[in-house]
Amino acid sequence: MMRAYRHHIFTGREQFCRLRHLTCVAIAIVCLWCPALLAKVTGPCSNCHTMHNSQNNSLVNSSGPNHSLLLDDCVGCHTGTNTQGGTTPFVHNTGTVDYNTSGIEGDTLAGGTFKYVAATDYKGHNVEGIANTDLTLSAPPGFDGGRAASDGSTPGNGSWSGQQITCAGTYGCHGTHSTSDPYQAIYGGHHKNSQGTAITAPDDEPASGYRLLVGIAGYEDPEWEFTPTAALHNQYKGIDDAGQMTETSTISSFCAQCHGLFHNPSANLTSGGGSPWLRHPTDYDMGNTDLNAEYRNYGGAGHAYLPATPVASSTVTSVKSSVTFSDDTIVTCLSCHRAHGSDYYKAMRWGYAESNDGGLCSNCHTTKD
Ligand code: HEC
Ligand code: HEC
Ligand code: HEC
Ligand code: HEC
Ligand code: HEC
Repeated sequence: MMRAYRHHIFTGREQFCRLRHLTCVAIAIVCLWCPALLAKVTGPCSNCHTMHNSQNNSLVNSSGPNHSLLLDDCVGCHTGTNTQGGTTPFVHNTGTVDYNTSGIEGDTLAGGTFKYVAATDYKGHNVEGIANTDLTLSAPPGFDGGRAASDGSTPGNGSWSGQQITCAGTYGCHGTHSTSDPYQAIYGGHHKNSQGTAITAPDDEPASGYRLLVGIAGYEDPEWEFTPTAALHNQYKGIDDAGQMTETSTISSFCAQCHGLFHNPSANLTSGGGSPWLRHPTDYDMGNTDLNAEYRNYGGAGHAYLPATPVASSTVTSVKSSVTFSDDTIVTCLSCHRAHGSDYYKAMRWGYAESNDGGLCSNCHTTKD
């Protein structure tokens, strides 16, 4: 029944795609003047919504209607193969997926993919609906009671034991933590969202945050980094603050909502701050290091931005294709990890545990290769 339903939808989408081809040319022309138009969902309502979950007296979705009258759920819509110019970011793939060596050459997006964690617990977040509960980890490592998002909501309302992580909501990443219903948590996100622009001062609405993450800033690559280069990539928000507690709009502070101990002054710094560190620094600018330090060779002579090992910046109004070691070389959790998952141990961007020399650690530790 489920299969028949999906077939029905794909047929509908195929028809829509032909139509969309023409529409896209028109939209593309308009968009030369108005890029913000691509900012949210497009296409006929019936492509995504069903009014009564009924078509010719048969259920459209055999497992019952979805919230927001949707044809499919979060995982259903976001499962597929990414292609150039695709309008849905696919974060999971039940068929083949190409992560390649560091996730920038294949067909995965900036968050990586849930493909591998679906089979192997330690390759990412075991999100409900995609993977089983993580059999090793029953809570987020480094959880310190949960840090509030900008709207005051805290993951797990401050405690976490045994719950599986979800796409959105109380135990989720996208939207507010103040409700357990994922659709309510991101309500309005898909229609009001500002995908493909610079988010510099988000308010507390899910739609206003970077990738529907409440209160997080950043520049959103319009292709979700399908084919990132030095000049085409997400620009992550960071801050040079070894204290690591003051600014909550950075991407690392987002991870810290659940992994707080890994982003915490007393847990990471020796007294007085800085090197020798207790835990790997994040929200720390490489511009703090000596002029002749190994870090100053990031990106080689021209100091190009390296999409395989991203560095964040304090301003995210535009994409930085090269770096200057002045609040634009900030280490983040995503310098090393993929938020969703990868083909490697602990969702690393590259095969760190799988290599003899650390792999891409040497993009920053340039004398350690
Ligand atoms: C490409 C898919 C897609 C299309 C096309 C689409 N929607 Fe939606 N819509 C969604 C998703 C996903 C949600 C639920 C998640 C959310 O609130 O962001 C949603 C939520 C809504 C909501 C509740 C939240 C809000 O923003 O008010 C309304 C109302 C809505 N859609 C109406 C429409 C109408 C009317 C159309 C056609 C003009 C339409 N949608 C076209 C995907 C789509
Ligand atoms: C009906 C299909 C559909 C459903 C259901 C759906 N999405 Fe989406 N989603 C889309 C499409 C299409 C886009 C790309 C357009 C956009 O950015 O809004 C998108 C974009 C996104 C983005 C990226 C936004 C950005 O700024 O780039 C996130 C995050 C997201 N969805 C999360 C969710 C979550 C969480 C749910 C479930 C609560 C969900 N989606 C349900 C179709 C869907
Ligand atoms: C809403 C809470 C939450 C947020 C936010 C969150 N995580 Fe996690 N994380 C978890 C939980 C729960 C686990 C353990 C269970 C699992 O892997 O699903 C986990 C596990 C991990 C693991 C180990 C994976 C494994 O299975 O061994 C890594 C690495 C990780 N998270 C990195 C991150 C990074 C990077 C971010 C920010 C982009 C982040 N997390 C944001 C809840 C969260
Ligand atoms: C995005 C750049 C970047 C990447 C990638 C990176 N590091 Fe670092 N690392 C730094 C910076 C900056 C410091 C702090 C240097 C300082 O304060 O002098 C640091 C500090 C360290 C330290 C502590 C040094 C001290 O002086 O206390 C170790 C050990 C370390 N990194 C190991 C690694 C390993 C292993 C990897 C790969 C998994 C890695 N790093 C990846 C930038 C990076
Ligand atoms: C320099 C690279 C690097 C940075 C930056 C980094 N991590 Fe990690 N992380 C790793 C590696 C490598 C591991 C695997 C364990 C190890 O080798 O120490 C790991 C393991 C983890 C784990 C699993 C711990 C466990 O008990 O299994 C979590 C959770 C995690 N990181 C979250 C984060 C968060 C959150 C941040 C940002 C605050 C972050 N990481 C920043 C490299 C990094």
